[in-house]
Amino acid sequence: MYRIGIIGCGQIAKVRHAPEYARNPFCQLTAFYDGDAARSQAMANQYGGASFDTMEALLKSGVDAVSVCVPNRLHAECTVAALKAGCHVLCEKPMAVDLDSCRQMVAAADAAGKILMIGHNQRYTRTHQKAKELVASGEIGRVLGFRTVFGHSGPESWCGAANPWFYDRSQAHLGAMADLGVHKLDLIRYLTGQEIVQVTAGVATVDKTYADHTPVEVDDNAVFLLRLAGGAIGTVQASWTFYGGEDNSTVLYGSAGSLHLYEDPANSLVVRRRDGEALRWNLDEIATNDGQNAGDRAPAGVVDAFVQAIETGEPSVSSGRETLRSMEAVFAAERAAREGRTLDLGAG
Ligand SMILES: NC(=O)c1ccc[n+]([C@@H]2O[C@H](COP(=O)([O-])OP(=O)(O)OC[C@H]3O[C@@H](n4cnc5c(N)ncnc54)[C@H](O)[C@@H]3O)[C@@H](O)[C@H]2O)c1
Repeated sequence: MYRIGIIGCGQIAKVRHAPEYARNPFCQLTAFYDGDAARSQAMANQYGGASFDTMEALLKSGVDAVSVCVPNRLHAECTVAALKAGCHVLCEKPMAVDLDSCRQMVAAADAAGKILMIGHNQRYTRTHQKAKELVASGEIGRVLGFRTVFGHSGPESWCGAANPWFYDRSQAHLGAMADLGVHKLDLIRYLTGQEIVQVTAGVATVDKTYADHTPVEVDDNAVFLLRLAGGAIGTVQASWTFYGGEDNSTVLYGSAGSLHLYEDPANSLVVRRRDGEALRWNLDEIATNDGQNAGDRAPAGVVDAFVQAIETGEPSVSSGRETLRSMEAVFAAERAAREGRTLDLGAG
């Protein structure tokens, strides 16, 4: 039985990490820490185990593994501390707020000989997994282009009220670009099995404001234009201002047809062949903010994959090392947007 600690007992810990450890037969939740002691105590009351006043005390309590669910800026610090203390770590996305920190996290995992996994849950949906298989088997031929979108009405819809840290550059570093864009940029690498070799990006703060009506200091909309190693180009759109409803869809356009993911409400995966034939699967529903908050969804698969990685010693498909390449592209996109130019990344 693995003894599990949770560092940061906010929304993602509440709706995904804690319930998913609780239902995993190899785990026991034993330790909780949050800057707001009422939150860690509430989780200890619900799941058993103890609430600790500091992260250091939690790490000394005999935990085998921890989830790091604090605001973005603290991911690297907490992850490295936990790895040094001999714990396996499942850290939420975005992995960290700069590339050096991401590299330090991977180096710390290597030095400790422990698992480091990042919470890129989009890699674990059945629809995305099936799509990856279809692309690899040549179902749509050579990938020529793509568009992928992740938009909802903003962190308020996730947390129930305006959540100040998402809009605070010192805590979040980036806005929709890192909150949602990182998922889809990582997903394109996963689905196509290709590295991103070139990136152009635009970001804007078009609508979100603080209570005094001044614009928030992070982006609420971002668009990336990516070129893949195989030559395909496509876009990633990330937005916190989709007030008409969430969009979490992806389309890959290939030489033999196209593949549509979470676009048709009745079929999570549709292949439209060049000859006119269509194939349809309804494998799952992508988790929406509303659905997760209502607690009426299937496990994201992230915690189970983490436990399996610990058990087997084999890295998961969203290991820290694998995520480094996605983060390299995110930070290149940040720079491309800031400098108004196109940047090349190392061909993988
Ligand atoms: N994988 C996903 O789809 C997904 C979805 C939502 C959030 N996330 C990520 O999860 C992380 C947490 O997001 P959230 O939505 O749960 O936010 P949240 O604000 O609900 O929770 C963060 C928690 O961290 C605590 N905290 C803040 N500073 C702290 C400190 N110095 N020490 C200890 N605790 C501290 C807060 O009190 C809060 O309880 C973020 O990095 C976010 O990007 C991932």
